[in-house]
Amino acid sequence: MSKCKTYYVTTPIYYVNDVPHIGHAYTTIIADTIARYSRLKGIDTFFLTGTDEHGQKIEEAARKRGKTPKEYADEISAKFKELWDEFEISYDKFIRTTDAEHIKGVQKAFLEMYKKGDIYKDYYEGHYCVSCESFVSPSQLVNDELCPDCGKPTRIIKEESYFFKLSKYQDKILKWLKEEKPILPESRANEVIRFVEEGLKDLSITRTSFDWGIKLPKEINDPKHVIYVWLDALFNYLTALGYGSEDESMVQKYWPANLHIVGKDILKFHAVYWPAFLMSIGYELPKKIAAHGWWTRDGEKMSKSKGNVINPKEVADAYGIENFRYFMLREVPFGADGDFSEKALIDRINNDLGNDLGNLLNRIIGMAYKYFDGKVSSKDVEKYYAQELNAAREIIKDIEEKYLWKMQLHKFLEELWKILSIGNKAIDAYKPWELMKNGEEEKAMALIGLIANLLAMVAIYLHAIMPKTTQKIADALGFEINTQTFEKINEGKLLEDFVIKKIPPLFPKIEKPLMKKVEKAKEPDNIITIDEFFKVELKVGEVIEAEEVKKSKKLLRLLVDLGEEKPRQIVAGIKEYYKPEELVGTQVCVVSNLKPAKLMGMMSEGMLLAAKDDEGLSLIRPEKKKKVGTPIK
Ligand code: ME8
Ligand code: MG
Repeated sequence: MSKCKTYYVTTPIYYVNDVPHIGHAYTTIIADTIARYSRLKGIDTFFLTGTDEHGQKIEEAARKRGKTPKEYADEISAKFKELWDEFEISYDKFIRTTDAEHIKGVQKAFLEMYKKGDIYKDYYEGHYCVSCESFVSPSQLVNDELCPDCGKPTRIIKEESYFFKLSKYQDKILKWLKEEKPILPESRANEVIRFVEEGLKDLSITRTSFDWGIKLPKEINDPKHVIYVWLDALFNYLTALGYGSEDESMVQKYWPANLHIVGKDILKFHAVYWPAFLMSIGYELPKKIAAHGWWTRDGEKMSKSKGNVINPKEVADAYGIENFRYFMLREVPFGADGDFSEKALIDRINNDLGNDLGNLLNRIIGMAYKYFDGKVSSKDVEKYYAQELNAAREIIKDIEEKYLWKMQLHKFLEELWKILSIGNKAIDAYKPWELMKNGEEEKAMALIGLIANLLAMVAIYLHAIMPKTTQKIADALGFEINTQTFEKINEGKLLEDFVIKKIPPLFPKIEKPLMKKVEKAKEPDNIITIDEFFKVELKVGEVIEAEEVKKSKKLLRLLVDLGEEKPRQIVAGIKEYYKPEELVGTQVCVVSNLKPAKLMGMMSEGMLLAAKDDEGLSLIRPEKKKKVGTPIK
């Protein structure tokens, strides 16, 4: 890893059917961390993220909101981009699958696969999950109907479709999975291997029952088909580099991708379909595909209907984006599911960041000032504290190969915190205040030098996760974070001199939760309470007079007895359905506390209840005659 010259890391491209939540933020933050780390090492790095905008799910989500798919995609895609910009995610490109270059690239890939003989036309009849945008075979269905991945009901589709010869690549994929071991964490590989071993069926890769997708290449001339959204989406990793355009130099430079980061939900698409497509067009396969686990909130699955989806911006606004980054990466082992609770976040900030890191920094800033005017040298550190120093060097030595490139970021952080603990223990053990009292100034200076070096080590390795915070530490201690200092620390060398500055505490203690409480699941907007219902007064009335309103096609004027002092005049739009004479003497249901309104110049003092469908309108009446004025409850 340390030998590679370029590094290409990607996130999934997120569907624009919904706004970003902490799951998306988690994936993106991991990718950002890896990209920043790789850049700090001096590696030429390309970091891609973006949005997935085609397919039935987006088309339906847009329609529900009365928008065109493109309008809707523009709106949500912008929300993702804005959030990543606000979080200072260091992506090099934000791709959208509606970009013209992407569309061209996907069509080129489709044509290549077609020419190769890997695509044929047939008919798909079976189950489809719109939420996962995936074809589900009968044996995978839960209760004969539900999607095994998301649990939602599948739909049966029957349509003409082009197929990709996935089965042809089964053995090659299996060999690759077993020999190259591309999946991280390795414990996830088995489920994918088993899936392939059970037998790969050819994959339907076009749809005809809706429009919102990339058309087939014009050479194939079959305009009723659009390309399956997963084929479209996966190729973003190549089209983002210019695949299919005049200039493919970036493809030469960065392909194959070093790392696709994905959630466990979409591992199969990346570790089975994607390599098969790549084999078909003759491109190298990605080096690693890392699949992380699922975030829940306070132990529950996040969902819109529960109203417990966490808005990452809300967390970042309350606690700081870098503290949030630290928390997410530290809290759960990569690959395992994690639970977001504010309490866990606050504990991490107060303990790990405040006590272990922040206090150590404050302590040495204080002592450096008190004893040495803020000027600290490393010259005697080795002489007095070789043991502490070597313990720290030992930790640094393979932290990268063992943990970082294996995505074991929680372990990576745990190891760095051991260095802080060496520092905190050294202060307690050697008590610089006593050294000063006993006239051992050189040894006291060396101790502060040791701590400054330990903090520098931690800050440099932590930089990719907490860029601004570590920059503040570097400013306070007077060193730089760059490729040179990284290499120096990495080789176990000391930074020479420190000129220390006072800074405000980096992690003020958090005493109580800072986020707004979880909102109760929102009820559909049209639900009313019983009290609200009883505000509407309904009464039985009897029509005592009825006549047509001249010049109106729709209106009849009625006099309705509600058992009040005098009958009410009600103007009702029922002329097309009732003759005045057939109404007189019949009972009706009246909304009796409606504010009077003028219709065609006449006051109407109530409203009749009626039901209308294709076949016409019918008044609602009590089943048996009731006294006029009887309330309806
Ligand atoms: O699947 N916990 O997009 P998507 C952790 N467009 N991660 C989560 C999460 C959660 N609760 N919810 C979402 C798609 N994620 C396709 C991808 S790639 C060629 C096409 C993260 O919007 C996680 O990374 O459904 C997951 O894989 C991704 O969001 C799915 O995002
Ligand atoms: Mg999803």
